Amino acid sequence: MRDKKHWYDGYFYDRIIAPNQDKMFSVIKNFITEGASVIDVGCGTGRLCFRLADRCSKVTGVDLSSKNIFTANKILSREKFNNVSFIHADASGLAEKLIAKYDYSILTYAIHEMPPEERTAVIDQLKIISSRIIIGEYAVEKKSKFWEVMNELVEFSAGKDHYKNYKLFLSSGGVNYLVEQSGLKIIKEVINNPVTSHIVLTAV
Ligand SMILES: C[S@@+](CC[C@H](N)C(=O)[O-])C[C@H]1O[C@@H](n2cnc3c(N)ncnc32)[C@H](O)[C@@H]1O
Repeated sequence: MRDKKHWYDGYFYDRIIAPNQDKMFSVIKNFITEGASVIDVGCGTGRLCFRLADRCSKVTGVDLSSKNIFTANKILSREKFNNVSFIHADASGLAEKLIAKYDYSILTYAIHEMPPEERTAVIDQLKIISSRIIIGEYAVEKKSKFWEVMNELVEFSAGKDHYKNYKLFLSSGGVNYLVEQSGLKIIKEVINNPVTSHIVLTAV
């Protein structure tokens, strides 16, 4: 099995990086109906999964980084949510691995780090396992020069391939292009809240 490795995976990601996503996570939580089942793909160390636990009947986090999944499970053993679980898996082969179906699939800041061909493969898998897909990503048009530069610095520091995929994601049209190419229908959309982000709730 593939294992994705970043220098910041694990506790560093959980403590320093993931909390910056809280505003996006709040927007996403409001998209989700009470009692729904959710799969968070590219869940990192599970911060969004834990935040959704009190609203959802079932939350599954999936990530290709074994270090992130190890940290997520460590936190889970402390917090003891009985409706949350984590799987170390590649999202591009998810439908064959999972029997369960979900009301929602979520992808936050995961799709931009994948190479273009992997992005559509992942969305195709999510279309099989869920009827709604939520994508939270970088907006193509940045409304703040300061945050645009900050985003660039963060993505550059993530490594050469990561940065290349980030740039390709934006230059190809970002979330709008992905939605169109995958044949998804936008039901709800929030742009620039948080600043430089683009969040969509879509129907497959
Ligand atoms: C920038 S992190 C975002 C984590 C979390 N969703 C958040 O918003 O804080 C992207 C995550 O996607 C995961 N990832 C990348 N490609 C993946 C794939 N093919 N299958 C599953 N996870 C993947 C990475 O390992 C990483 O943990």
